[in-house]
Amino acid sequence: MKTKILKNTKEDIEKAARILRDGGLVAFPTETVYGLGANAFDEKAVAAVYEAKGRPSDNPMIVHISRASDIGQLTRRLSPDIVTLIENFWPGPLTLVVKKRPEVPDRTTGGLDTVAVRMPDNETALELISTALCPVAAPSANLSGSPSPTRAVDVIEDLDGKVDAIIQGEDCRVGIESTVVDMTGDVPTILRPGIITAENLEAALGKKVEYDKAITGKNGGIDGDYKPKSPGMKYKHYAPKAEMIVVEGERARVKAEIERLKGLNERLGNNVGVILFEEKAFIEAAHDFFARLRDLDKEGVDLILAGALSDTDGVGFAVMNRMLKSAGYNIVRVQ
Ligand code: TXA
Ligand code: MG
Repeated sequence: MKTKILKNTKEDIEKAARILRDGGLVAFPTETVYGLGANAFDEKAVAAVYEAKGRPSDNPMIVHISRASDIGQLTRRLSPDIVTLIENFWPGPLTLVVKKRPEVPDRTTGGLDTVAVRMPDNETALELISTALCPVAAPSANLSGSPSPTRAVDVIEDLDGKVDAIIQGEDCRVGIESTVVDMTGDVPTILRPGIITAENLEAALGKKVEYDKAITGKNGGIDGDYKPKSPGMKYKHYAPKAEMIVVEGERARVKAEIERLKGLNERLGNNVGVILFEEKAFIEAAHDFFARLRDLDKEGVDLILAGALSDTDGVGFAVMNRMLKSAGYNIVRVQ
């Protein structure tokens, strides 16, 4: 397939919208990561997204809308809490899991009776969705298992030749995927952490929110019998081609251990890359993390040593969720 590489001009966005309406696949920028979109109501188009990404088809997609009121096309039930979160955080990096209307295809929701919805905070994305005149189902625009794409070049690298069009926009402002919150139970439950934190949600709602065990459990809850609510949490994720180790502990010790392991491995003839963010610079870490993984892979490193961020529930915690997955929970602890 020949992929059209488009710009984020009005004219090109109209071309892309037409492709979506005709059942095609378009990759587009959002504020979090690039998405690979299809008409959410077109089962064939949605199936083609799984195909292009090489993704298991029980993994549900996030449906993107351009006006908050369009959530009515996807669900009938809007609780006061859902309305509060929409008012506080949309457009923005917050995905709400709600009961789905029967019209939303099973293909889009991976057979679940719920649907994940978000309104992205990105002009190009909003214009594309509103011109397409349909909600747009879009997972991250990477090959399944590889790091999420935060730059147009990353998308081209993974999907050129596999999708109808790629809109080249700016680098993503946030850099990690949206916070996903399950709003179908009594207590709002975070299924995937992001830059909108539990504290942010609690401040808006005036009540406690919980984390799904898949996030807080050992090894991301993938060991043992626990079945995560968010099916995406169970797959091997974001893995760089290189072997990766996360070094955890007191900051000075972490630095020293990374230096030691680096020297050791270099003497063995290995090419070693290091990811060590400034202490407490969590927003920057979120912005850079996936791009760093991809760049180190391009440099052909054999081993990536990453310093853990110490944060138990904020933005640093959301970055750690990705970092540990990337490393396949390969952790070295220093005291
Ligand atoms: O920032 C983002 O959310 C990006 C951009 C493109 O919007 N999208 C994204 O999509 O990260 P994806 O497919 O890579 O991740 C979607 C996550 C998965 O973990 C999936 O299991 C979960 O959301 N999810 C989707 N629908 C769900 C549902 N009905 N119930 C529970 N989890 C759901
Ligand atoms: Mg993804």
